[in-house]
Amino acid sequence: MSTGSYNFETLNDIAFQAERLRQQAQAVRGMEAGILRSAGIQPGHDVLEMGCGPGFVSDLLAELAPQGSLTVVEPSATLLAQVEGNVRNKPARGLFRIQAYGDRLPIPDSSIDFSYARFVLQHIPQPETVISEIHRALRPGGHFCAVDSDDGLVVLYPEDARVNQLLHTAQTIQAARGGDRFIGRKLPNMMTGAGFVNVKSRILSLTSSELPFAMLFNILLGYKASLLGGTIDSEQLFQDLSERVTTGGQLVAGGVFIVTGEKS
Ligand SMILES: C[S@@+](CC[C@H](N)C(=O)[O-])C[C@H]1O[C@@H](n2cnc3c(N)ncnc32)[C@H](O)[C@@H]1O
Repeated sequence: MSTGSYNFETLNDIAFQAERLRQQAQAVRGMEAGILRSAGIQPGHDVLEMGCGPGFVSDLLAELAPQGSLTVVEPSATLLAQVEGNVRNKPARGLFRIQAYGDRLPIPDSSIDFSYARFVLQHIPQPETVISEIHRALRPGGHFCAVDSDDGLVVLYPEDARVNQLLHTAQTIQAARGGDRFIGRKLPNMMTGAGFVNVKSRILSLTSSELPFAMLFNILLGYKASLLGGTIDSEQLFQDLSERVTTGGQLVAGGVFIVTGEKS
């Protein structure tokens, strides 16, 4: 297996991408804690995080399961090395870091209570295999929550041709690398196919009147701009949209799918 469309080591601006992930986690931390609690995470759970990146979300998972354990899986050695420093309070039964791809986990059957994958499955060529592995690792009654993008949820009014071009080009590049920018809508089917029951999906949308625009821009377009390298002047695009948002002339919205399922 490969890191599909998200190979951290070859992204053209590593420091920017790490900062983008940090901001992304920070901006929505309170909201995300609510999502994870309603998805079933409990203080004593053994938690598995798929594709943890540098560990900004791992810190939140550790906070929500302080009496349990946290196992994080990440193929990039560079990112995995940062997790220890970013998880401020280790869970009572330990923090375990595993360098692996998600399709073959060195984790025993039925050993996990709660699993989370955030903005990971969109990058993986065979997400179904990873979802099946998570299902195998969960205990009966265990829960899986996946949060991921779907470019169908990006709305701009008025439209901006550069954003359309950015989205279209990023979709093509990501698809060519085995990723899928429309995975959100497909997750419920994939989870049902892997054997999950009580599969529920919801959409969370954020608009430019709810978040500081710089954050929304980074969340929606930061990764895409870096996929494209210098093809689009993303600084200029940000300035233009930002000015219009400030004066009330521009609406920007983006959303994510939140899909949960249970192992019977
Ligand atoms: C956009 S980042 C998200 C990181 C983190 N979940 C977050 O939300 O901050 C995608 C992560 O998925 C990881 N990844 C890519 N392919 C993977 C695979 N086959 N199995 C597990 N993780 C993978 C990448 O290395 C990267 O850390």
